[in-house]
Amino acid sequence: MSDFDARALRDACGSFATGVTVISTTTDEGDHGMTANAFMSVSLDPPLITISLDRKSRMHTKVRKAGRYAVSILSQDMQHVAMHFAGRHNPDLSDIFVRLHDLPVMPGSTAVFLTEVVQEVDAGDHTLFIGRVTHLERNTLAYPLLFCGGKFGSLEVLA
Ligand SMILES: Cc1cc2nc3c(=O)[nH]c(=O)nc-3n(C[C@H](O)[C@H](O)[C@H](O)COP(=O)(O)O)c2cc1C
Repeated sequence: MSDFDARALRDACGSFATGVTVISTTTDEGDHGMTANAFMSVSLDPPLITISLDRKSRMHTKVRKAGRYAVSILSQDMQHVAMHFAGRHNPDLSDIFVRLHDLPVMPGSTAVFLTEVVQEVDAGDHTLFIGRVTHLERNTLAYPLLFCGGKFGSLEVLA
C-alpha cells in the first residue's frame, strides 16, 4: 500500500534531471528508435549499461527479438529528434539513422554505445534490459540535451 498516486510518483521522479537518449535496434521489420531517459551505467568490468522499457512499447518487443540495442546520447540541439522518437512523428526525420557495426544510431550524438543484451529484469510495467557494451564512440565537442520536470534544457541554459 502506497500513500501517493501515480501522478505524484511521476512528478517526483521527473524532478531528477537526466540526459536524453534514443534507443535503437534493427529486426527483420527494419530499424526502430525510441526516446528514453531511463538509461544508467551499471558496471565497468564487465562493461554493462541498462535501459528501462515500457512493456507496452514497440521497442520492448523489438529489443527482445534482436537481442541487442544501441544508445545514442542526444546533444543539445536535438530536442526535435527526442520528440520524433517519442511518438510525434516528423517526416523529415524518417531516414535519419546512420549505421555503426550494423546497428542504426543517431549522428551528432555526444556518445553512442552498442550492446548485446545479457540480462532481462522484469520490473513492474517495465523491463530492464542490461546490455554488454561491445563498442562506443564519443564526440567530446558536443553538449548533452537535458530533461527535467517535463522540459528540455541544456547546460548552456543552466550555466
Ligand atoms: C524525454 C522522454 C523520455 C522517455 N523515456 C522513456 C523510457 O526511459 N522508457 C520508456 O519505455 N519510454 C520512455 N519514453 C516514452 C517513449 O519514448 C514513447 O512512449 C515512445 O512513443 C514509445 O515508442 P515505441 O512504442 O514506438 O517503441 C520517454 C519519452 C520522453 C519524451
